[in-house]
Amino acid sequence: MSSPRGPNPQIVVLDTGGQYCHLITRKIRELGVYCEIRPSEVDPAQLKGVRGIVISGGPSSVYEEGSPQVDPAIFNRGAAVLGICYGQQLMAWHLGGTVSKGERGEYGLAWLELSGQAPIFDGISGRFSIWMSHRDTVTAAPPDFQVVGSTETCSIASMADVSRRLYGVQFHPEVVHTEHGMEILSNFLFGVAGCVKDWSPRAQAARIEDEIRQVAAGRNIFFFVSGGVDSTVAFSLCLKALGPEKVRALYVDTGLMREGETDFVKSAFAARGGDIFAAEHAEERFLGALRGVTDPEQKRHIIGESFVSVQEAILESGHYLDQNWILGQGTIYPDTIESGGTSKADLIKTHHNRVAGIQKLIAENRIVEPLHLLYKDEVRELGREIGLPEALLERHPFPGPGLAIRCLCSETEARVEKLAEGWLAPVRSVGVQGDSRSYRPVLVLEEGLADAGIHERAGNLINKTQGINRVVALAASHTPISDWKTTASWIDATRLDRLRRADGIVRRLCRESGFEQHVWQFPVVLIPLGAGQWPDSVVLRPIHSVDGMTARAVSIPPDLLARLCRELLEIEGVNAVLLDLTHKPPGTIEWE
Ligand code: XMP
Repeated sequence: MSSPRGPNPQIVVLDTGGQYCHLITRKIRELGVYCEIRPSEVDPAQLKGVRGIVISGGPSSVYEEGSPQVDPAIFNRGAAVLGICYGQQLMAWHLGGTVSKGERGEYGLAWLELSGQAPIFDGISGRFSIWMSHRDTVTAAPPDFQVVGSTETCSIASMADVSRRLYGVQFHPEVVHTEHGMEILSNFLFGVAGCVKDWSPRAQAARIEDEIRQVAAGRNIFFFVSGGVDSTVAFSLCLKALGPEKVRALYVDTGLMREGETDFVKSAFAARGGDIFAAEHAEERFLGALRGVTDPEQKRHIIGESFVSVQEAILESGHYLDQNWILGQGTIYPDTIESGGTSKADLIKTHHNRVAGIQKLIAENRIVEPLHLLYKDEVRELGREIGLPEALLERHPFPGPGLAIRCLCSETEARVEKLAEGWLAPVRSVGVQGDSRSYRPVLVLEEGLADAGIHERAGNLINKTQGINRVVALAASHTPISDWKTTASWIDATRLDRLRRADGIVRRLCRESGFEQHVWQFPVVLIPLGAGQWPDSVVLRPIHSVDGMTARAVSIPPDLLARLCRELLEIEGVNAVLLDLTHKPPGTIEWE
């Protein structure tokens, strides 16, 4: 570990492989108690001083070979334990209860009936709604445990051995759909485990600055910055800790940036004082490498490779590989956990981290990651504390490969085809169906944009129409759809400029109207579908999401949409404006 550890956690969440363990940890921290994640098989000796242990939910069955395990000694250490879902089953399994495969699973909302007294339900009584997601269940509680809650399909939805402070719940108190979920967690933390409030992200600045000085030990720090929240907050903390003489922000202009982006990043860093910012202009290298390329994954790969070589060149020429420099990175807690296990980080990130120069620095322990224990929302809070502007902290996520994956390309010329429900356009986009990637054409609806049920209709159409994964609705155009065709096209300066202008208009109008705050992200995509003097069309993709894993496509208020269409159709070469109606799944947020 390159950076020193943070505060001692009062609560440790044991990770049994589920998606919920970060959510549990975040919720516990929201309640003001510092909490960290450990692998479920952690040696109990390493949990010294911990007041409470939470065993998370996971997708496995306790009786299956190779399923995540815990050392049963954790139940005898005197620390309070809360098993959630698979965690409750593990607890029952180890302590002499029985776990069986349920006849049918229980997924979604259910009603919990409390049937006994247990301190984790203090202040809560009767029947309330909970969120379930399980197939296996505890069918006999271990000796000395009492059943304290049940649902219609799950007779042991909660069990407790109050004297040993061992608790199990089959449901998920950490999800918002569980009524009283936060009260249950709070009862466990303060009423059962005896935790004290010790955590506030805003109070971390001084400690982190100390850590930075300790790790830097007199050396300078350089960062590759993108203008995103994490690298900016991490950099700013280093700047505060060491002063402008000892830090450098290095920014690569790939030519795939949004309108005004390079100036925005430059001024955001310049405002922090000193000669701290260096931009590398590499537009020609990136555009040259992308000439003639149409496949999405190949585009990503080329961008990753080009980034590697530009970074290498900067490291070499700026003498950043000398012993008096170390590397700063904006790595946050979920990445810290993932990189210790099964990292599913996407291609571009892998490439960035794989630059040989950077790997050398990592191997030599010349790296500082000031945010390595924080979640994104905690990074934003900390950013506020150290006075970073809201305009920077509340930025929507933007993909590493930039506008390239929003500028769709085509190898061939092909016409649209009339179907019963709309027009099949020969422009393919990426989707997720089941667990696998799809790459399929899109259906264009000519009418119905203003209908209340249009998103639902789009979902039904994707299910019943063979070979599509996305539906868009026509908002405005210069030409009738029957005339539309794709043209052979790839990323060039003209099309990038077209997209950049479209994206700039959308951002400006969304900011002015306040719509920006109502969406999690709003990609603007250029597709090579048009007619005559207008070869491209613009797709608007406003979505709601919590973490980008799933997303809901949303409508745009009619007056805003009308203004967007008016301005977008004035851009040279833009044929039509389309609104993407596809949720994720089955579509992905980005088109590529
Ligand atoms: P998808 O399109 O997979 O996107 O639904 C989920 C989130 O990830 C972002 N995204 C990327 N970010 N490099 C990145 O750094 C990429 O190649 C990339 N592709 C997608 C996307 O913007 C969304 O927030």
